[in-house]
Amino acid sequence: MIQQVMSFGKMPLANGFLEKEEFLNEYFFELALQFDSESKLISLVEQPNPSKMFNEKYAFFSGTSKLMQEHFRLMAEDYFKDFLFNKSDAFLVELGCNDGIMLQNIANRGVKHLGVEPSLNVANVAKKKGINVISNFFSNSLALEIKKHYGQADVLCAANVMCHIKDLSSVAQGAFSLLKEDGVLIFEEPYMGDVINKTSYDQIYDEHVYIFSVLSVMNLFARFGFTLFHVEPQETHGGSMRYYLCKNGVKNINESVNRQIDFELALGLDKYETYLDFSEKCKNSKLNLVELLKNLKKDGKKVVGYAATSKSTTVLNYCGIGSDLIECIYDTTPIKQGKYSPGMHIPIKPYIDFENDRPDYAVLFAWNHSKEIFHKEKDFIARGGKWILFVPEVGIIETKVS
Ligand code: TYD
Repeated sequence: MIQQVMSFGKMPLANGFLEKEEFLNEYFFELALQFDSESKLISLVEQPNPSKMFNEKYAFFSGTSKLMQEHFRLMAEDYFKDFLFNKSDAFLVELGCNDGIMLQNIANRGVKHLGVEPSLNVANVAKKKGINVISNFFSNSLALEIKKHYGQADVLCAANVMCHIKDLSSVAQGAFSLLKEDGVLIFEEPYMGDVINKTSYDQIYDEHVYIFSVLSVMNLFARFGFTLFHVEPQETHGGSMRYYLCKNGVKNINESVNRQIDFELALGLDKYETYLDFSEKCKNSKLNLVELLKNLKKDGKKVVGYAATSKSTTVLNYCGIGSDLIECIYDTTPIKQGKYSPGMHIPIKPYIDFENDRPDYAVLFAWNHSKEIFHKEKDFIARGGKWILFVPEVGIIETKVS
């Protein structure tokens, strides 16, 4: 049975940063969640057409943070060591390789590889690095073509991609035919356990059609002949999970899977009521954030945003926060700078202006990169600036200058 959990109201595209002239024709859809009591999957009720989100104007570049560069370097090392090393015909395929942040480490080792990336602008950046990429959406039919031209794969991997793909059955079927008999399907995605524990509702936006849990991944992929044999929690994106799957009967199930399932049952991820409770927590978070910003405004403080993340689009639109409360957002991504935030139209400025503009408070939208950002922005704290966080709770945080 599928039951609606909550609606966040009308939402624009999370990465739909736009020019003033585009305001009138901006696209909106209703962002709402539903729960499937059979598979235990949380998904969006409605998702915009993928070509609206993943195209030649895609604004998300994976390579913008040091933390993520290191994360993907280690990921490539693990995949090489565990599944590719010492195989003369080793072949790895990555879905949604973005700017090649992970795949470049595989290519550098001289391993046969292929990236499948639908957003042409980021795919071209990967190509310039000498990575073998085709710009397309992965599907069962594309998998058959890849198999014909390149042969079967040892590893089919994806990071922050699988939760973007509505037609998972086509992907799972494609993965099954593309992988060798002992091949592995590995993907990591923002984790429902963390979203519930931290009330990090900002993970919910157009691109994330699913927020996976171990229970839901196990149930969904079992329908296509896959066994979930290992899971590894990750710190990235505010809490993610890496899922390892094999064809049925090929590997033994690791203890990590049962341990994580016990955790999920204790948290109630299998129950509809847990998500209703989450929806109440989102409402409280919204009230608290708006009240805090209104009070700061009343006190004449200069409040800005730091990092125009995809996540910030949900927060700003759900809470109805515009440039009256947050006067601008600073970001390092060149194609976002000079544009306006989706829906609420807050100006996006280059991050080098952050210090010169001397804000009193900065709402940290990239809270998942807080360590790196606090370190980089020591001067902001040293002259009395303060960070505002909304995950796991709304509040002004005191950071020490070290
Ligand atoms: P991320 O959390 O990966 O974003 P998303 O919610 O879109 O997945 O953060 C990436 C965004 O944050 C990108 O727009 C660049 C910006 N950013 C900064 O502006 N400064 C920084 O120091 C960091 C780490 C990110």
